[in-house]
Amino acid sequence: METTQNLPKIEKKDFPLLENNFMSKNKIIYLDHAATTQKPIQVLAKIDEYYRNFNANVHRGAHQLSAKATEEFENARSLIAQYVNADSNKEIIFTRNATEAINLAARSWGEFELKENDEILLSIMEHHSNIVPWQMVAAKNKCKLKFVGIDLNGRLDFDDLKSKLTKKTKLVSLLHVSNTLGCCNPIKEITKLAKKKGALVLLDACQSLAHQKLDVRDLGIDFLAGSGHKLCGPTGIGFLWSKKEILEKIPPFFGGGEMIQDVYEETSTWAELPHKFEAGTPAIAEAIGLAEAIKYINNIGLDNIQKYEKEITKYLFEQLNQIEDLEIIGPSPKIDPNRASLATFYVKGIHSNDIAEILDSRGICIRSGHHCCQPLHRHLGINSTARVSMNFTTNQEEINIFIENLKETISFLNINS
Ligand SMILES: Cc1ncc(COP(=O)(O)O)c(C=O)c1O
Repeated sequence: METTQNLPKIEKKDFPLLENNFMSKNKIIYLDHAATTQKPIQVLAKIDEYYRNFNANVHRGAHQLSAKATEEFENARSLIAQYVNADSNKEIIFTRNATEAINLAARSWGEFELKENDEILLSIMEHHSNIVPWQMVAAKNKCKLKFVGIDLNGRLDFDDLKSKLTKKTKLVSLLHVSNTLGCCNPIKEITKLAKKKGALVLLDACQSLAHQKLDVRDLGIDFLAGSGHKLCGPTGIGFLWSKKEILEKIPPFFGGGEMIQDVYEETSTWAELPHKFEAGTPAIAEAIGLAEAIKYINNIGLDNIQKYEKEITKYLFEQLNQIEDLEIIGPSPKIDPNRASLATFYVKGIHSNDIAEILDSRGICIRSGHHCCQPLHRHLGINSTARVSMNFTTNQEEINIFIENLKETISFLNINS
């Protein structure tokens, strides 16, 4: 298998937190990249540079600091537009995170467009962020939610999707890559089916944006939600992409400064895109930091990242499969070669929180619980799972240490249960 050293231009020392752990003497083994990624020094330095050298509000001041801040902020928008191959910068709306992006689509598009008895098609593997906003719209507009199930391999059940997609479906809202099962959904095929029924498609790209190339035009989707912190960028910044013609038609979600053209005592008119959807002072440092993160990822190359992560995922699965009583949920890399570089599992008779706690005491960070996917866990009849998630910084040695400690932890818990 390849090592991180074989990846062009990537060095673990770019990530201070992975090199030095201020919490303990030992280096941390961070295997929770699906929850949030660590940040390279380039991103930290860019945020520092903004606050030291050109901190100012954007689109407002007539002074040079504001001009520089605005230029960098708008360059960030442009870089994101290129990253997802959007038609125009105006199609990128900055939000706090992917959750806010989905809420924006739900409130501005959903509440405006959906009528009584319209249907919204989701899947049982969705993150709560792509369920709860639609529940709220459905309750308000008297619409119906339907959920596509999963097949025996833990992939989206395509036949179920076909049977639930009808003329009443107005939106199909799905994740691209599951943060729990790890499967990669065939979005292009789904979009073709959805279009035939006249439905729009929203893609939750939280778990794919940092791991594979994504082209909104090629996929034929209508909305995309992304979070900066999962892309080696800062927290507090995410984005919604949608087509200009959709964004121009729907009303804004938040009201306030920056999003208006004219304000009268009783009414207001809206600013041009994208500002119509960006009320108040935006997350300037965070957007600029995200642009630096995207440059960093582009520098390594998404094709290189995907190739490397496929190798390390195969290795992780081989190792986990050798552990008795351990069940992985989600498809193996053989069944879904584009699956995420993560593995979610449970061990019969042992609570996943106990596994995570013991590993944490040994400097290994994994996640346990329902990973914001309660409907999926209920569907599978499991309370809680453990999840180990990697990215291009993860190496084979870290996986070996994790596996060794996991085996010891399971033996210890088995003896003491
Ligand atoms: C698939 C998926 N969707 C949505 C989200 C929500 O992301 P955020 O909390 O950054 O809004 C996550 C975060 O874990 C996720 O994995």
